Amino acid sequence: MTFLQWDTSHSVGISIVDKQHNQIAEQINQLYKLVGTNKHSQIVEILKELNKLMDEHFSTENALMKEHKVFNYFSHKAQHDRLSRILDDNLDDIIENRKELTPQYLILLRDWTINHLKFHDKPMADELKSKGVI
Ligand SMILES: [Fe+2]
Ligand SMILES: [Fe+2]
Repeated sequence: MTFLQWDTSHSVGISIVDKQHNQIAEQINQLYKLVGTNKHSQIVEILKELNKLMDEHFSTENALMKEHKVFNYFSHKAQHDRLSRILDDNLDDIIENRKELTPQYLILLRDWTINHLKFHDKPMADELKSKGVI
């Protein structure tokens, strides 16, 4: 079974956003396969890739919201900033061997992603689409 099942029900209807969400879900699933292994360098590589994708994705959404004056821009961006700090801290801890990759961390990422999609990304996308963004 796939850890983070990503399908069309998760689509928000903005192509760049959907593409990035898909890539993020794929990386989280890759990481899940490595929990409990001692493949430290591979785990670090994928975590770096995931954090990079997340950064790019948050920048994309923040820029779209800013450009189109989306309601709730500041609270939505604050959610992105909060997760970015968690991603950075976790990567540092794993690189420095202060922590291992845990299922709890991936569950946090999965739940955050699904909740964030529902309460922030979907309303944002609906507003963007109503303003003609595709
Ligand atoms: Fe978002
Ligand atoms: Fe998003």
